[in-house]
Amino acid sequence: KTRVLTGITTTGTPHLGNYVGAIKPAIAASQDPTVQSYYFLADLHALIKCQDPKRVQESRLEIAATWLALGLDTDNAIFYRQSDIPEIPELTWMLSCVCAKGLMNRAHAYKAAVAENEAAGNQDPDKGITMGLFGYPVLMAADILMFNAHKVPVGRDQIQHIEMARDIAGRFNHLYKGAYFTQPEAVVDDKVATLNGLDGRKMSKSYNNTIPLFVSEKKLQKLVRKIKTNSLEPGEPKDPDTCTLFQIYAAFATSEQTADLRREYAAGIGWGEAKNRVFDYLNEHLREPRERYQGLMEDPGHIERVLQKGADRARAEAAPFMDRLRVAAGLGRFV
Ligand code: TYM
Repeated sequence: KTRVLTGITTTGTPHLGNYVGAIKPAIAASQDPTVQSYYFLADLHALIKCQDPKRVQESRLEIAATWLALGLDTDNAIFYRQSDIPEIPELTWMLSCVCAKGLMNRAHAYKAAVAENEAAGNQDPDKGITMGLFGYPVLMAADILMFNAHKVPVGRDQIQHIEMARDIAGRFNHLYKGAYFTQPEAVVDDKVATLNGLDGRKMSKSYNNTIPLFVSEKKLQKLVRKIKTNSLEPGEPKDPDTCTLFQIYAAFATSEQTADLRREYAAGIGWGEAKNRVFDYLNEHLREPRERYQGLMEDPGHIERVLQKGADRARAEAAPFMDRLRVAAGLGRFV
């Protein structure tokens, strides 16, 4: 079977960008009988950015409830918390020991943090940068390689990390002379590789420009009205291809519906009306999952049981594989 794997960092409330970039393609894959899927809450990754235990705990529950509310079938998919699989941090260490430091120097997140220090005129370019942030791609490589995933559905921002995982996998196989790891491949939907947010920049927790998936109907309407548009008047033709509002619609609607709205843009639909159209569509599609989400948020016991079952299934694969890797590296038992 093809193995498909992806995770979401548990530092915030899941938003439309997470949905179109990762959750939607992941749930679709999990319904394919030729696929074995692995989806997880990346809560060890959360510690890199967030030292507020309440926030991490809350976000884990929200993200788990989101996957379930959107219809993830946890009998098919193996759905777990990263921190429930102790083999993952162990593998992270082994991979760290074969991963060139120079590779990590090139990671976008690290480079961005250094650039920020330099822009702020800090003497030390590494000021405030932890080993967690620096080694983040190695932990992510361990997530992926632990289950030898073939395909990793992600948004465009994660492609570099998957390339690094390929690099690290190759290095380990070479050094320990065996085909231990499969080379993973990123799966990126071109249409929505990067969904933009309220201000037209990439929708991101760190920009504070997100539309959370399960806000109330009222709040959703308010947020859709806040999406930045230009100052063209009703009657003037508008360009759908540079329009965040249109992009969001296209990420959810069918291709015929999208083509319809495209024609209306050309015919000069007013922004108010276009926003109403997009809101109505989103609201209609999110209503049922939103209700399920609210029910799930009130039943953490249920979510815990689902995750425990997932952890058992994940560890049933991870533990024997880790044994093999220990032996490969000379850490097997004496007898
Ligand atoms: P994270 O939590 O930042 O984002 C989760 C997923 O959502 C996608 N995404 C978007 N896609 C399109 N448009 C956007 N505006 C947008 N914002 C976020 C991300 O690309 C991602 O697919 N390091 C990862 C989590 C992770 C992981 C893994 C992913 C840890 N281990 C192993 C895959 C495999 C992260 O921080 O994603």
